[in-house]
This record gives sequence, structure tokens and C-alpha cells, in this order.
Amino acid sequence: MGKKFTNPYISEMDNYKDIIITEKISNHPVKPFPDTQPLKSIIDIGCGSGNFLRKYAQNNPDFSFYGFELRFKRLVKGAIKFKKRDISNIRLIRDRAENIRDWIKEKSIDEIYVNFPDPWAKKKRQLKHRLVTREYLTELFKLLKPTGHFIFKTDHPIYFQWTMDRLNIHDHFKVIEYSDDLHQSEYDKANIPTEFEQLFKGKGFPVYYIRSIVQP
Ligand SMILES: C[S@@+](CC[C@H](N)C(=O)[O-])C[C@H]1O[C@@H](n2cnc3c(N)ncnc32)[C@H](O)[C@@H]1O
Repeated sequence: MGKKFTNPYISEMDNYKDIIITEKISNHPVKPFPDTQPLKSIIDIGCGSGNFLRKYAQNNPDFSFYGFELRFKRLVKGAIKFKKRDISNIRLIRDRAENIRDWIKEKSIDEIYVNFPDPWAKKKRQLKHRLVTREYLTELFKLLKPTGHFIFKTDHPIYFQWTMDRLNIHDHFKVIEYSDDLHQSEYDKANIPTEFEQLFKGKGFPVYYIRSIVQP
């Protein structure tokens, strides 16, 4: 009989309990941190191994950062990097991004990023798996402060247009910046590249970008 494979990163997550949150202690949203009111609160959905969070948090120690990610290895890799650099203002939540409202308090977030989500584009029937839907945007709207931003980046032109269309018809979002070639645009200066972004940039592919703001 073949040996059963156990992902070694599952048990390794225990070494980073101060960073990686795996279960809700009670039925309440994740405890805000640091204890003092953060200047801003930021979410990265599908954060991978956390390079974007790390770079953003390093320059903003007064902000609180939350990353949602499913993959154990990426979570552990992220936590290792944060520890190594003494970054203490990031929490990684191991749960499906679809459950975000279980974790985060309403109207408490300044910026929500969806960076390079899986495009689910191989077959038409996969489209139902795309994270950005009208309903999901409504859930994110409920978490954002009245001055909040939703930011989306992708290498996938069709997902870019799909998200643009959904934002444009949504009553509670207004697109304020966009580019079909972020790195050649005026918005590149303020941009923080993610892991996947660097891969695509290296291959010479354009990156598509949208920034929207909440409207009542
Ligand atoms: C293409 S990668 C992009 C990673 C990172 N944002 C970047 O730009 O480098 C997409 C990430 O989203 C995660 N992911 C996919 N579906 C998810 C879901 N439903 N909830 C949370 N994370 C998810 C994947 O595990 C993967 O790490």
C-alpha cells in the first residue's frame, strides 16, 4: 500500500500561530491589532506568500494588514518572511476569501486588494468560480469604510474587463483609475508589485489595473 502524503506545511503552521490564524476563537471578527487604533486597515485577498503585504507593511508600521490565503506552503513562507524582518502588523487568515465577512468587522477597512486572482478561464463552466462577482463586491462594500478603496490587478485582459463591467454597474463603487498597461502608466510610481506581477513583468506581459472608491 502506498504511503499517505501529509503536507508538512500544515504542522509547520503551528510555529506561526501569532501570524497565521486558522480558526475563529468565537463567533466574533478577528481581534483588531495592534491594540491601538491602526491608522489604516488593509486586506489582500489571495495574498500568496505575502510579498505585497510585506513591502506595504514594512513602510507603514501604523497600519494593520490582513491576508486571506488557502495554501499552507504560501502561508508558512509568508510568516517566515515577516518574522525574519520583524514585521508584526500582518495577520494571515487561512480561509476561503468567500468567507471574509465572518472575519472582518463591517465598515472597518480602508483598502481591499485582489491581486492576480485565478482567472478560471479554461472552460466556460469554470466562470462560476471567479471571485469577483456583483454579489462579492457588495460583500466587500460592507467591509469598507465610506472612504474605502477596492483595487484589482490582473494579467488577464478578459478578467480585467469582467471586473470593470461589474464595478461600473455597481451602485456602491466608482472607478477612479485604470490602465491596461500599469507599468507604463502614471500609476506605476505608487504601485507595489506582487510575486505574480513580477513574473508577468519579467515575461514582458502587460498588467491591468483598476482602483475604485466606495460611494454611498
Ligand atoms: C495567482 S495567485 C496570486 C498571488 C498573489 N496575490 C500575487 O499576486 O502574487 C492566486 C492566489 O489566490 C489563492 N486563492 C485562490 N482562491 C482562493 C480563495 N477562494 N480564497 C483565498 N485564497 C485563494 C491561491 O492559493 C493563490 O495563492
